[in-house]
Amino acid sequence: MAFLFLLTMPGNIELLKGDITKLTVDAIVNAANSSLMGGGGVDGAIHRAGGPAILEECRMIVAKQGGCKTGEAVITTGGHLPAKFVIHTVGPVWHGGKNDEQELLAACYQNSLNLALEHKLSSIAFPNISTGVYGYPKKEAADVAITSVSVFLKQHTFISKVYFVCFDEENYQLYQSLIRQ
Ligand code: APR
Repeated sequence: MAFLFLLTMPGNIELLKGDITKLTVDAIVNAANSSLMGGGGVDGAIHRAGGPAILEECRMIVAKQGGCKTGEAVITTGGHLPAKFVIHTVGPVWHGGKNDEQELLAACYQNSLNLALEHKLSSIAFPNISTGVYGYPKKEAADVAITSVSVFLKQHTFISKVYFVCFDEENYQLYQSLIRQ
């Protein structure tokens, strides 16, 4: 899939730096793994801050459908988080770029946004999926994230706000340079 750089960003995209677990939005997105049983990074932060109710619902999902495939997304309660829901998506592990990583990462954003739409959620916050443990190069991942979300928002006006939440400075600088205010 060729990603065309979009010259204009929809006004409903906002860039933030900080901890996604602090955000009061309809849903925050978790960079989960396919077991949905938690982990480190943002996954660990969300489960720690949100409490056991999130893991309980993940267990129910696993019992019903098995885990979550790469590129797919599931939704649970936000538990004790200020966010109402958590959308768990599994990013691709970077293996050099020839294993459909780009398409799978784009699918994480698209499927998370589709779930938000299905649940009539109008504000959603994304971390920089796959750019930590999964090793996806940050610049390429930012391109995929921004393009996927921008294309989606041009086709679906219900979602009024999408936040890109950068935890580290490198991602934040990258997103700043790519998102033309
Ligand atoms: N808020 C926002 N972003 C965060 C936070 C936080 N509290 N903590 C970490 N991040 C950022 C990291 O800086 C990174 O840019 O989330 C991004 C994704 O990094 P990871 O959490 O390592 O996720 P990922 O690379 O997708 O790897 C997923 O890691 O934690 C495990 O269970 C998870 O196996 C899965 C794998």
